[in-house]
Amino acid sequence: MNREELKAAAVAMLDRAYVPYSHFPVGAALECADGTVFTGCNVENASYPAGLCAERNAMFHAVAEGHTDFVRIVVAGRSDDFCYPCGICRQVMKEFAPELEVICLNKDGDEKRLTLNDLLPYGFDRTWLPKDNA
Ligand code: THU
Repeated sequence: MNREELKAAAVAMLDRAYVPYSHFPVGAALECADGTVFTGCNVENASYPAGLCAERNAMFHAVAEGHTDFVRIVVAGRSDDFCYPCGICRQVMKEFAPELEVICLNKDGDEKRLTLNDLLPYGFDRTWLPKDNA
């Protein structure tokens, strides 16, 4: 899937978002090293903390299907500004793909290309843990 197709896959997920509380849909499309793509949308809940972001929805689906080799992710929103991943999603990206390319879209489909290192400098990962725990 080329970059435009990956962007279109993320944008398409905006219509699947379940956002009765925030009314802020987010779509994500995650590409793995072998080209497999996993998509996700945000899914909210009446018990607010039970909701899940679009990016983690896509990443956890990928892991559940045996893919941890993430290469790039597109995050689509309908906001004027680019839709940037939240801090928790950045931390999950860091676990699997410290070099991840992150492409953020605004409502017009304009893109901002970043690396995870741009978004999460000095991040925490398994290398800080004692070897027995990592
Ligand atoms: N949201 C995402 O899906 N991804 C982000 O990185 C930012 C926030 C969702 C969570 C919630 O459903 C809504 O946007 C408003 O915070």
